[in-house]
Amino acid sequence: MEHFKLGERALSHGVRLEIYDEIDSTNDEAKRRAEAGDAGPLWIVAARQTKGRGRLGRRWSSLDGNLHASLLISDFGPAALAPQLGFVAGLATIGALIEATGATERLALKWPNDVLLDGEKLAGVLLEGAQPPWPGAPFGCVIGIGVNCVAAPHDLATRASDLSRLGGPRRDAGAIFASLSNKMEETLALWAGGSGFPALRERWLSHAAGLGGEIEAQLARETISGVFETIDADGRLIVSTRNGRRAIEAGDIFLPALAAARPDPERRQ
Ligand code: BTN
Repeated sequence: MEHFKLGERALSHGVRLEIYDEIDSTNDEAKRRAEAGDAGPLWIVAARQTKGRGRLGRRWSSLDGNLHASLLISDFGPAALAPQLGFVAGLATIGALIEATGATERLALKWPNDVLLDGEKLAGVLLEGAQPPWPGAPFGCVIGIGVNCVAAPHDLATRASDLSRLGGPRRDAGAIFASLSNKMEETLALWAGGSGFPALRERWLSHAAGLGGEIEAQLARETISGVFETIDADGRLIVSTRNGRRAIEAGDIFLPALAAARPDPERRQ
């Protein structure tokens, strides 16, 4: 198994780490800890997940050598701002990946919080609420992050990539995790319970894939097309369509320009 340890910054902030050879889902374990009264900050990392979960009820293939990690936190700020933590996580993840690989130009963020390598999915974030066991206790949040370090799953509706495509030295899950644990502390400090979201949003946009280009957004009941203008002050995706501006809170986006640059147009990112 990889050797997992926290980075210096995380250690100095009193963050704890628990490591498993195998678990159902690191998000599920973090939620169980919250239900048992743990307020975090606590990282749960597992070499294998038997029931890894992705966004929108999807499965997340947890291949050996990839990173599966979840952070439980509770004292982050107003519960209503918890959805912004997805952007914190996306930015921390791309920060860790840039630090580990130096491949700044090949890495990008895809709304809401995927990390892409050459336009293909490299990492994903699953943000979930966690229930404390007693009334009045601060709301908990679990930030689950999966990074394809050594292998890309082929059973996704998305095209996926992994860090081995970069060539060069092997970037193992342990090294990525140590950096991620630090970047998460840095990015949480920048976010500052929500007051730093404007600055965080600017940073997020500086890494955004497809900004200013054509985009297709699959929502629960419709698909809309238009130009990806920006994300707004609440993190919603702003698309200008023929019928006006739309602000999108949840859904999947498809970036035709990235697909056109790839050989296999059948599969969607
Ligand atoms: C997505 O892009 O759909 C989100 C994927 C999140 C996967 C990670 S792996 C660690 C944590 N545990 C889970 O069951 N899911 C997240």
